[in-house]
Amino acid sequence: MTEPPIDVIILGAGAAGLFCAGEAARLGNSVLVLDHAKRLGEKIRISGGGRCNFTNIHTQPTNFISQNPKFCISALKRFTPQDFLDRVNAAGIAWHEKTLGQLFCDTRAQAIIDMLMKAAAAGGAIVQGDTNIKKIGQEGTDFRVETSAGTYQCRSLVVATGGLSIPKIGATGFGYDLARQFGLEVVETRAGLVPLTFDGMILEAAKSLAGVSVDAEISCGRTMFHEGLLFTHRGLSGPSILQISNYWQRGDALSVNLLPSVDLASELSGARQHNGRQTADKVLVQHLPKRLVSQHLNGSDGWKSLAETGNKGLHALAQRFHDWQLYPAGTEGYRTAEVTLGGVDTRALNSRTMEAKSVPGLHFIGEVVDVTGWLGGYNFQWAWASAHAAAMGI
Ligand code: FDA
Repeated sequence: MTEPPIDVIILGAGAAGLFCAGEAARLGNSVLVLDHAKRLGEKIRISGGGRCNFTNIHTQPTNFISQNPKFCISALKRFTPQDFLDRVNAAGIAWHEKTLGQLFCDTRAQAIIDMLMKAAAAGGAIVQGDTNIKKIGQEGTDFRVETSAGTYQCRSLVVATGGLSIPKIGATGFGYDLARQFGLEVVETRAGLVPLTFDGMILEAAKSLAGVSVDAEISCGRTMFHEGLLFTHRGLSGPSILQISNYWQRGDALSVNLLPSVDLASELSGARQHNGRQTADKVLVQHLPKRLVSQHLNGSDGWKSLAETGNKGLHALAQRFHDWQLYPAGTEGYRTAEVTLGGVDTRALNSRTMEAKSVPGLHFIGEVVDVTGWLGGYNFQWAWASAHAAAMGI
């Protein structure tokens, strides 16, 4: 049986879909949100270690990766981190800035889900989980949505089904397939904000150091991040690695500076003047964990006394810690990736309304679009901003 037409159907009850529902309903639209998952907003729930890093107060378009870097400017300008923070404050959710402009809930991420659900309900939007989307078609200018719970018709269809990351909690490529069905291009996807894997000696070293974390500067080409680095049983993780993974392509080298705040060559040379009989590790353990120092000095002149180590040797040691060249074997893939790079080609979308230029009434928002943020609350800010843009443009 076909239900009477609805103003807006939103596919996907994640961050972008739920926020869009509240915004569109507030503007007087009848709204139905459909999702195949039983538990809705699951990525919000697990985000930020369970506390949801819901925005970043320093958000700029340069914090996003896209084949069309200017696309995100309009939406981000019209719905800012402060705008979302105003909603969070109005909902009475306690929050704090952790670091680098990253805002987290003080207690549980569930508070954000509750806030989004309440806003949707307040405007009369219906949010329906456990519903499989079978087929999407068009009837004149309306859309026909065939689902396991019945067939619905709507004037505007908003696709907010996210990317491919963490299939275990319901991620699918549905949005990409739908974009293709309507003749839109999809920029090739790959796992982003993801740990990097290694093989051979580096893997063995990482395994032996699993659990050790340090502050490091990681570069790939001209892109550099200075944040934490974590050794794991599979390779390397931690914020700096997740950040650089968005820029790393198979075959690229990474340069790791394990001592970004130290001039190691001059420290070693000073230590040699003071006491030439000591070895480099005595200096290094003042800055780095002992296990890491021992592992990283393997096969070097670091075990000779500083007096025996010439200037060239000191510089080689400094280079070893300041410019550790690594070739990752790959990434852990969508299983653990926080986001999916690539997605619906923004050249086919109107940047003010997220509407497909060639299909009036069809909108794409959130992670399904080829706009991917850095680690640190940027991806949620994109979800809110793109959802707001679509709601205003319906
Ligand atoms: P999202 O993935 O949230 O929602 C998509 C919805 O569509 C889901 O409910 C899904 O079930 C549904 N769906 C998918 N396929 C479907 C189909 N075929 N039929 C019906 N429904 C379907 N970002 C950030 O800014 N700060 C943070 O702290 C974190 N932390 C974080 C931790 C972890 C572990 C992950 C995996 C990710 C993050 N992120 C993050 C990224 C952030 O969660 C992500 O960018 C947003 O949730 C994207 O919002 P969307 O609404 O676009 O997709």
